[in-house]
Amino acid sequence: MRIAVVGTGYVGLVTGTCFAEVGIDVTCIDIDQKKIENLKKNILPIYEPGLEEMVARNAQKERLSFSTDLASSIQGCDVAFIAVGTPPGEDGSADLKYVLAVARSIGQNMNSYIVVVTKSTVPVGTANKVRKVIEEELEARGVDIPFDVASNPEFLKEGAAIEDFLKPDRIVVGVCSERAQEVMKKLYKPFLMNGHPLIFMDVPSAEMTKYAANAMLATKISFMNDIANLCEIMGADVNMVRKGIGSDVRIGNKFIYPGIGYGGSCFPKDVKALIRTASENGYDMKVLQSVEAVNENQKSVLYNKIHNHFNGDLAGRTFAIWGLSFKPKTDDMREAPSLVIIQKLLEQGAKVRAYDPVAMKEAQHSLGDSIEYGKDEYETLIDADALLLVTEWPEFRSPNFNVVSKLMKDKVVFDGRNIYDANDLNEKGFIYYGIGIKQQVPQQLDASI
Ligand code: UDX
Repeated sequence: MRIAVVGTGYVGLVTGTCFAEVGIDVTCIDIDQKKIENLKKNILPIYEPGLEEMVARNAQKERLSFSTDLASSIQGCDVAFIAVGTPPGEDGSADLKYVLAVARSIGQNMNSYIVVVTKSTVPVGTANKVRKVIEEELEARGVDIPFDVASNPEFLKEGAAIEDFLKPDRIVVGVCSERAQEVMKKLYKPFLMNGHPLIFMDVPSAEMTKYAANAMLATKISFMNDIANLCEIMGADVNMVRKGIGSDVRIGNKFIYPGIGYGGSCFPKDVKALIRTASENGYDMKVLQSVEAVNENQKSVLYNKIHNHFNGDLAGRTFAIWGLSFKPKTDDMREAPSLVIIQKLLEQGAKVRAYDPVAMKEAQHSLGDSIEYGKDEYETLIDADALLLVTEWPEFRSPNFNVVSKLMKDKVVFDGRNIYDANDLNEKGFIYYGIGIKQQVPQQLDASI
């Protein structure tokens, strides 16, 4: 089989590379010449564990190539994936200009039957728009070439995208013809070895599935953040509550970790877009509006604790931040809660020194020189008034707290992801704040309060 993947962003690059990995002939196409030149030299636009090696291996075997020339690359392809960006507009709706421009270009250049698949997360009804645009172009050319459109949402988690692609929980494909279904079945056959289903459905349902999945996951997180906040007020421990409810298989123990709010490119964008689609069609998504409101609020929860602890006196203090990306194993800074926390600290005249294992370059794009960047996690701590754990990278999980305590001016830890044990830190002499648990002070300090 031969396929084209248009758009070499996160989704397109992972998709193209993973198809090449199972022996399919893949061309990844992008209009960004610099990006394509870099990819040819194995320089990737994003960080994703294992991807660089996989791109290199498949390019070397000549199953994976990169091009800016859609017109020639599309010839003879069985499938063309559209995996370009759908940036949110001012009102939260997804902007389809790139998706439709690619569709137009496919219509202008295709010469034989092809299945055009939307892979980007697009509002319900987009595949139909894609079909219309292609039809228009074929008509303008005066040719009658058969084609189908399909919707194949991705469920990749950043940091685990390759694993998610190669061993998917499920693959969802919306199709509108037997012919397209057969092509998609053949394409995905190599990924079904672990028994997980390939689910065919109509196109609008496939488009909706993606939004519903992300909205449900975002809801779980905001719900737990709400519970965590209430736990604090009532003197309960959300870690216990989480275990208590997570053992009920109907609830499940995944995605119920409270924290400092969800970020990234998918949840914030998709929740907003779904609310928007609903309201445009006269329906009020009340649950999701609250999910969004809780999340916005949650990004300030750690800052509020800091503010209270220091009685609002933050000017001139130094805060060490561990982790900047919106979650571990990615350099993605989009909608990262760290940005909100840092912004608030800087507004108060505080100094911020941060370290992230991979996201510092990316962070510099938005933060510039407004903060200092440590060369490792320990360097950030020198004379710091407090440590803020913002992203739960594995390397932050068990630091040497003796070293930590020697480096810091004040022994205060604000743990935005509940990765440390409150009692353990108290024994080591730290004042510890988590999310949804009672604030803990070491015994010797307790006596003096
Ligand atoms: C998500 C979906 O998981 C994926 O299926 C979809 O295709 C794209 O969006 P991603 O954005 O990469 O993937 O990250 P994910 O691991 O799902 O985490 C999203 C956010 O939720 C992060 O900010 C994370 O810190 C937060 N989160 C996650 C919590 O706060 N608590 C949890 O229990 C789980």
